[in-house]
Amino acid sequence: MKQKLIAGNWKMNGSLEANDALVRAVAAGMQDAKCDVALCVPAPYPAQVQMLKAGSKLDIGAQDVSQHAGGAFTGEVSAPMLREFGVRYAIVGHSERRQYHGETDAVVAEKAKTALAHGVTPIVCVGETLAQREAGQTEEVVKRQMAAVIHVNGHCISEIVVAYEPVWAIGTGKTATPAQAAEVHALLRKQLLAASAHAGRVPILYGGSMNAANAASLLAQPDIDGGLIGGASLKAPDFLQIIAAAS
Ligand code: G3P
Repeated sequence: MKQKLIAGNWKMNGSLEANDALVRAVAAGMQDAKCDVALCVPAPYPAQVQMLKAGSKLDIGAQDVSQHAGGAFTGEVSAPMLREFGVRYAIVGHSERRQYHGETDAVVAEKAKTALAHGVTPIVCVGETLAQREAGQTEEVVKRQMAAVIHVNGHCISEIVVAYEPVWAIGTGKTATPAQAAEVHALLRKQLLAASAHAGRVPILYGGSMNAANAASLLAQPDIDGGLIGGASLKAPDFLQIIAAAS
């Protein structure tokens, strides 16, 4: 039975004071957790979280990573830099970066490749918009996004994490039903297994308004191996209830 992964995506939220309270509460409350837990924090904060998490099983993630390993790329953060601060994961291809920063499938694939090359595990986000779902294009969209990453990283695809995040469920409170999520997770698992016999170990997380009330029903589904949590990760009691549901 694969250990589940619960990753909190703080997005552009946090402060030294708020982080201190949140990280201490999560680290203290997850001591009996039987799942992996990571906090994907904004760029200034890995060092603070590294200090606050001391002694806990809490991992640190980033919310993006450059496809370049260094050089003249103003404003970007490289995978080697993330590793220096003990960062284990990096979200790549989040829909908000695809939307606001024009990140293409090819760029996302390169980000994943560079992260893997430098010891950072990419959490590769795929997901359809409401218009695409309503047009019956969900399978086409998520398989296209996943195929780009497999094309570049096929030889080590079993080392990634995937997050299915239906865009229409992100931040809206309109969570995918367990059946809707399970259907797409099954598609992604089949696609990954076609690329690598070892892809059964790839965690496929669900993201999109997962919360304390619906986590258990989602996490009970086959191939839903955890969650990528936005809003609910900013509230320690809610985040800890999701962790408990995954344990
Ligand atoms: O990356 C996770 C995020 O997109 C989900 O956000 O607030 O719907 O849990 P939220």
